[in-house]
Amino acid sequence: MEPNGPDKLPTHLAIIMDGNGRWATQKGRQRIDGHREGEKAITDVVRAGIDLKLEALALYAFSTENWKRPKPEVEFLMRFNKELLDLRVGEFHEKNVKIRFLGRRQRIPGFLMRKMDETVELTKKNTGLKLNIAYNYGGQPELVDAMRAIADEVADGKLKPRSISEKTIEKHLYAPDVPAYDMMVRTSGEMRTSNFLLWELAYAELIFVPTLWPDFRRGHLMDAIEEYNLRTRKFGALA
Ligand code: IPE
Ligand code: IPE
Ligand code: MG
Repeated sequence: MEPNGPDKLPTHLAIIMDGNGRWATQKGRQRIDGHREGEKAITDVVRAGIDLKLEALALYAFSTENWKRPKPEVEFLMRFNKELLDLRVGEFHEKNVKIRFLGRRQRIPGFLMRKMDETVELTKKNTGLKLNIAYNYGGQPELVDAMRAIADEVADGKLKPRSISEKTIEKHLYAPDVPAYDMMVRTSGEMRTSNFLLWELAYAELIFVPTLWPDFRRGHLMDAIEEYNLRTRKFGALA
């Protein structure tokens, strides 16, 4: 397998947008101010993804574990995400972005779910960047959901257990057309995947950067892509 050329871009990029709380506390501000400030980073990075003509960009916005946070923070995040969609969907739609949400619908308040559904409907025919927003998302729940659907097909006699393959699992992921990511960036210095895209990151290059999410901009993304270019992807074969 060839190492990445100097200008090679990932086709599918995943980002764990982490460090909003710390960004705010370091400044003596409320954690929610950090989330609010994170909007600038989201907008800049999505615009970069459009300009770079990436095929898919996944952003981890709210995990199935984030419900454990204090109620006011969770409620803020629900409202804030609706506001963010109100603010940016028009521009992204104009730029041919196809927006989808990865995750479970349960527990998401009606006002946000309606906006999410509207957004998906509005942008579903777009052919540019696939923006996959992970919301109420967990990698393990995603696999549980896939397994339940597969078990139903087996119970209905539509599928034989021995016919189940990696392809069958991929067909049942939340975004079956993006079953694998080339690169995953996590901001804020934490070095773990926190239940993000467990199946899809199997062979991704993992890049951890110290920058806190609200400070992350296109330039930081380009630095991360430069690091990706220094990696040799072997997929188990010899370099
Ligand atoms: C990421 O920032 C945003 C969400 C998880 C919603 P955090 O809120 O996790 O920020 P830190 O990790 O506490 O600094
Ligand atoms: C992961 O960040 C989830 C999102 C960025 C949405 P967390 O801050 O929730 O993860 P942990 O708790 O540090 O693992
Ligand atoms: Mg965090």
